[in-house]
This record gives sequence, structure tokens and C-alpha cells, in this order.
Amino acid sequence: MLDQFLNQITQGDCLELLSHLPDNSVDITFADPPFNLKKKYNSNGDNLELQTYLEWCQKWIAEMVRVTKPTGAIFLHNIPKWLTFYAGYLNQLADFKHWISWDAPTAPMGKTLQPSHYGILFYAKNAKHLKFYEIRYPHKRCRKCSYLHKDYGGKKPLLHPFGPLVSDVWTDIHRVKHNKYRDEHPCQLPIHLLERLILMSTDEHDIVLDPFSGTGTTAIAAKRLGRQYIGFELDESYVAIAQGKLAQEQANSRIGNVWVSFFLDEVISVRDQDWPQLAQFYTIPENVETIDKTKAVLRTSGKVNFSAESEAVINQFAFELI
Ligand SMILES: C[S@@+](CC[C@H](N)C(=O)[O-])C[C@H]1O[C@@H](n2cnc3c(N)ncnc32)[C@H](O)[C@@H]1O
Repeated sequence: MLDQFLNQITQGDCLELLSHLPDNSVDITFADPPFNLKKKYNSNGDNLELQTYLEWCQKWIAEMVRVTKPTGAIFLHNIPKWLTFYAGYLNQLADFKHWISWDAPTAPMGKTLQPSHYGILFYAKNAKHLKFYEIRYPHKRCRKCSYLHKDYGGKKPLLHPFGPLVSDVWTDIHRVKHNKYRDEHPCQLPIHLLERLILMSTDEHDIVLDPFSGTGTTAIAAKRLGRQYIGFELDESYVAIAQGKLAQEQANSRIGNVWVSFFLDEVISVRDQDWPQLAQFYTIPENVETIDKTKAVLRTSGKVNFSAESEAVINQFAFELI
């Protein structure tokens, strides 16, 4: 039953479609469901009565856990308010690993604190068997001189040459704001957010499932990283947009044989265990503080495969962020 959905975005209701998948059949599941905040998703609403919304969420969350392999991770993206309910259900079905805080402005919720992060709940189907890889992100540097932003109390020479291990607070990934790079969708996620989750929890050819595919962000990330994907989406026009974009994508987000995640022309996520293989592609002076402009080195080495979308954006050089 799985094969008919593999490497496809299938139009339909996710609860119905999930029911066709066998138990323990996909490597990871990621969901970015409607937030019940009256957003305008082309053909479907986003304004259920509270209890109805929560009961509906409980059903697809249980299905996500059922279809995930024992080695797999379950990721749920939403505003903190709904994640508190999701965690309540998930604690009965799977093993809590992390609440990842993704630093991005969200809609005002009233007259208290301005919400400034989305959460990504990270659960293991079974913590004893979880597949997990540590990820590194690049040091923050001055754009002009390449010097490190942080002082590190005199320990700079001891730092990892590429960058620190990723924690559960992500401040280096931003929402795509500029209309030029957005689809006709109210809440499209950045591809490299999904790439980081996929690198962290899967291997090449593994299967990544997203029951609320939107315009295909998860599937695109999976395809770029040489993984397989299954996407479900209710709205026909979003399915068509995703299919059109996927047709243009290739499994080419890598340097040499190592899968990495790029943002524009810089590597933004690498697996810690892959660094020894990647180091040869970087120019790293003895003093980590003066590390060369790695992106220039990568681009001129001719050894890096950039996706068509990355190339287009690099060429126009006009990506705008919040
Ligand atoms: C928050 S958006 C996901 C956006 C997606 N992560 C992206 O980057 O494009 C939620 C999506 O779920 C879809 N949706 C709503 N109800 C659904 C259902 N019952 N089954 C499948 N998809 C559904 C909506 O049409 C919408 O595109």
C-alpha cells in the first residue's frame, strides 16, 4: 500500500489517506497542521470550535505515531498554545526528546507577551531505538571581515572550525517573507528548516511523511537530500504547486558525497560525523577567527551542487527576510 504514495503528493484528507499506510512503515513524520487561527487556505477553513479542533488533532497525531518506524522521529510544528495539548497526547504514545524553539515572529495573541517563536515537538517513537545525528551550524561572523561575533572568553582557537552543535533554540533560520519567493500559501515554511530536521533524523533513501504538505516544503527538502517522501494535502491547487516545484528539484544538496543543507550559497546544517569528509572543501587557517570566506571557496571549487532554486536566488541576490 505504501508504494502508491511514495514520492508523490496525494490530494485528499490526511486522516483517510493515513489509514491506508501500514504500521511502522515510514522513517519520520513531520506535521505543520492548520493552526485554527482563521488563516485562509484556498479551499478549506481554519476555524473549528476548540474541542473539535483538539479531537481532530488527536486523531492524526495517533496516526502519525502508528505509521512511524520504531527508529523514527515524530515532529509537530505549531504555536506553543497547541503544542501544550499535543504534548499531552504524545506523552502517552511516544517518548519526548525536545521542544525545539524556532525564533520567528508569530501573530499577536492578546495584550500580554508578543509571541516570538514557533515550537517543534520532537518525539521518538521509541527512545531506545531512535536514529539521531548531531548537527552543526556555521559560526556567526562579521559579513565583511569574517571575524567571529562572539568572544568565547579566549577559547576561540579551541572551537570547532565549522561551527557549534545545534541546540534546541534555533535563531539562524528565518521565515521567507518576500512575495517573490513565496507561493500562494499563507504559511509556507523555509526549506532549510525541514532539511535540518531531515538530516538529524534520517539517512539517504529513508521515507519522510508530511500529512499537511501545503506547497511541498517537506517533500522538496527530502528530495534535495536524497530521501523519499510522502505528502498529503487537501487543497488541489497547493498539490499542483508542490508537484510543479518537485519536478524541478533534484537530489543535489551535497558537497562531494556528503548531504548538507544550504541557505543561499552557504552551508547552514551539516552532520557532525560528516565534518572530516567536508573539511577538505573548506579553507581553514590555523586561527579559526580568520577562517576564509567559505562560500567563495565552495562556489569556485566546482565541487558543490547547488539546487536550481538556490542558483536563481544567488544570482538575483535579493532574498529578503523578516
Ligand atoms: C500550515 S499549512 C502547511 C504548510 C506547509 N508546511 C508548507 O510549508 O507549505 C497546513 C496545510 O494543511 C492543509 N490541510 C488542512 N486540512 C487538511 C486535511 N484534513 N488533510 C490534508 N491537508 C489538510 C491546508 O490546506 C494547508 O495547506
